[in-house]
Amino acid sequence: MDQFKSKVAPADGKLAVLLPGMGAVATTFIAGVEAVKAGLGKPIGSLTQMAHVRLGKRSEKRWAMIKDLVPLASLDDLVFGGWDPIPDDAYIAATKAKVLSPEHLMQLETALSRIKPMPAVFDKNVVKRLEGANVKKGTKRELANQLIQDIRGFMDKNKCPRAVMVWCASTEAYQEAGPEHQSIAAFEKALDADHPNIYPSQLYAYAAIMSGVPYLNGAPNMSCDFPALVELAEKRGVAIGGKDFKTGQTLMKTIIAPGLKARMLGMEGWFSTNILGNRDGEVLDDPANFKTKEVSKLSVLEQILEPDRYPELYSDLQHKVSIHYYKPRGDNKEGWDNIDIVGWMGYPMQIKVNFLCRDSILAAPIVLDLALFGDLAARAGMKGIQEWLSFYFKSPQHAASVYPEHDLFVQKVRLENNLRYLVGEELINYLGSDYTNE
Ligand SMILES: NC(=O)c1ccc[n+]([C@@H]2O[C@H](COP(=O)([O-])OP(=O)(O)OC[C@H]3O[C@@H](n4cnc5c(N)ncnc54)[C@H](O)[C@@H]3O)[C@@H](O)[C@H]2O)c1
Repeated sequence: MDQFKSKVAPADGKLAVLLPGMGAVATTFIAGVEAVKAGLGKPIGSLTQMAHVRLGKRSEKRWAMIKDLVPLASLDDLVFGGWDPIPDDAYIAATKAKVLSPEHLMQLETALSRIKPMPAVFDKNVVKRLEGANVKKGTKRELANQLIQDIRGFMDKNKCPRAVMVWCASTEAYQEAGPEHQSIAAFEKALDADHPNIYPSQLYAYAAIMSGVPYLNGAPNMSCDFPALVELAEKRGVAIGGKDFKTGQTLMKTIIAPGLKARMLGMEGWFSTNILGNRDGEVLDDPANFKTKEVSKLSVLEQILEPDRYPELYSDLQHKVSIHYYKPRGDNKEGWDNIDIVGWMGYPMQIKVNFLCRDSILAAPIVLDLALFGDLAARAGMKGIQEWLSFYFKSPQHAASVYPEHDLFVQKVRLENNLRYLVGEELINYLGSDYTNE
């Protein structure tokens, strides 16, 4: 076992956690980490901080906390930085986001107000509903170089030997990969030509990969999930992953749908609607930005239910998703789901889910886990798409030759087995025959 363990470099020194986008999710994440460090809160929802995994045979009764099993950066070693077109420091941004209470935030003011966003690479054509003065100027090539300098400068200034980047910025307008996204050569050429199809998030992803920094995308827009950057990540040995944090309604979908499918219950329809009043909701109120989110949200059921394999159960399924910007609700999203299911002899039944969730409260622990696991992947020499992190994403990035895995429980087994593998522990396949034969 030790022979494997030694292959993962230790988490010595500080880790820069770089966040494009310092809005509700990013500031709730940073504030939460600072609160945990100060003993003001618990990291609920974070596997890296709270989860145990079983090791060996059931009869061995061996368990370990993930953070003891694999060498992860400690919360005390995280140094936060980021970019945002809005110049507010993390304390002001968190106060405006209204996710955490003023009483909570006041106790964290010193730590949060120190974190000021670097000028962002921002394009109003891609996120129409935002204004911001804290932006960089230059051609796409110059902007990419400025981001690379920012990364290096931040790591040097804060004495961080390692960094990881998690995209927490607004959802960009819907885009499909064009010719300029198909190879590194085409992408580099498009950078030099200042091509409008290269969106800001792609420049951040490019800068991260060129700097050897793992890049994880928390929004549904195309950022590192196209051939050119997949190729670049492989070539430069950098871990990447995405996309779209799996939080409220889609989290519920990937919990409920595998259960219904496992029981071979049919489904005629799944109607999902949400009201949301934060800035994310405002950005998503623009049809071009909503389209990006819709594609991400819709992809889930099809893969879980496999209508081609089970046409009698799922071929007529109607899946509808809508999001409404409704200001009074703020970050506290309310989601309604109506699921029309079918049982024995075709008799219909309904399930209603009314989820009064807190979007950023669900997203913050995902940012933490992705940052720590992204850094672990780098130290373990893992490169390219990190499919074992699918657990955290609505629309998991996957190799071109396979379909994405959406079932939360399969994703969890995969994540845990990956961790066991990294430290030379036996992989668990739940066959169980060894116990019955003992
Ligand atoms: N909260 C959730 O549960 C959840 C779930 C899945 C995905 N997401 C995604 O995470 C992202 C962040 O969500 P949020 O609620 O924090 O939104 P937010 O609007 O509060 O924060 C986004 C921030 O990104 C900044 N920004 C926009 N373009 C930028 C750029 N090019 N560079 C740097 N900063 C930029 C904005 O100024 C804003 O401060 C969104 O894309 C959202 O769709 C959130």
